[in-house]
Amino acid sequence: MNQLISGFQNVFHDLPEAFCFAPGRVNLIGEHTDYNGGHVLPCAIHLGIRCAAARRQERIIRFFSESFSDQGVIAYPLDRLMAKECWADYPVSVIRALNAFGYPINSGADFYFSSDLPDGAGLSSSAALEVATGVMLRYLFSLPLTQQELALAGQFAENRFIGVNCGIMDQFASAMGKNGHAILLNAHTLSYAYVPLEKAALVIVNSGIRHSLAASAYNDRRRECEAACRMLKVSALCSLSREEFERRSGKITDATCLKRARHVVDENQRTLDAAQALLNGDFSLFGQLMNASHVSLRDDYEVSCEELDFLVELAQGVPGVYGSRMTGGGFGGCTVSLMSSDVVESFISAVRTAYRQRFHMTPAIYPVTLSAGAALTERVVD
Ligand code: GLA
Repeated sequence: MNQLISGFQNVFHDLPEAFCFAPGRVNLIGEHTDYNGGHVLPCAIHLGIRCAAARRQERIIRFFSESFSDQGVIAYPLDRLMAKECWADYPVSVIRALNAFGYPINSGADFYFSSDLPDGAGLSSSAALEVATGVMLRYLFSLPLTQQELALAGQFAENRFIGVNCGIMDQFASAMGKNGHAILLNAHTLSYAYVPLEKAALVIVNSGIRHSLAASAYNDRRRECEAACRMLKVSALCSLSREEFERRSGKITDATCLKRARHVVDENQRTLDAAQALLNGDFSLFGQLMNASHVSLRDDYEVSCEELDFLVELAQGVPGVYGSRMTGGGFGGCTVSLMSSDVVESFISAVRTAYRQRFHMTPAIYPVTLSAGAALTERVVD
């Protein structure tokens, strides 16, 4: 906290009024199902974004991030919140989203961000940034917004103003996380249930790979799913059960769209099965479903890469690991593995050594604590 206060003071020469923390997320299973009206099973993690903020008199919004300190303070006049093609477009887009939702922000403010989430690693640093901004705006301007509305504002900001057609999973997980639990979310209705995950360990491994075309490839996948919907004459792929899909799949005349659609329908069912397995304490079944999810993402959805495949196979060969898969949008980023708590240390050293030998890179590895959703932290001035 002290570091946030002194950081804020150094940059803005004033005291912050409030602080918050918004977590990143890891998705356990249910990949590329959210924008297809299906289920996802993410959890908020202990890594995330801290923010200190204060209102100011001038009609100007200023942002500073320790992660992009070389870019200095980025300022937007309140009356012209146009994109500047930089990281601060994410938080400023949340203001634009809230304006569009009927919550005009009528005075200036300063925001200072500090993050321990690796940027661009598929752990939702953008969603955490958006949700942190929303939590601060709600407090500073006394806006009557629920956590879910903050998540929706973040998604709207990204879809409308950033140009990434993401689903709701990341912002929802950051806003709605619960200690020790994953969230089974129906991305169509937004109904959700918390599923405890306490007796096994989750470990994230960052491949260190970032695909520069990830955003456009993501939008391509969405378009392929929409094309499949049109051929099947359904509004969302996840409205079909596996059996219905197999009966009607002949209507999809394009081979790529067929593969994409098959992944989505199968993954939706796997997610429901996995949540049930977790409730039954059946980690071994849960692990098998994770492994199957990876194969489908690799072969049918084609969003994996050599490094992720290597990490997943490696993890699956470590005794005590129940299952492993790539997590998030793909094209690089992280894997997530579920394992018995007593093998975490041996898993970490096995992965580190093998990855270094194969790719000459040391991967960042994070044993995960499942965390609560975004919230204000201790206040300085009330
Ligand atoms: C990104 C998006 C999410 C989701 C995943 C893939 O993280 O932001 O909405 O679509 O990819 O499951």
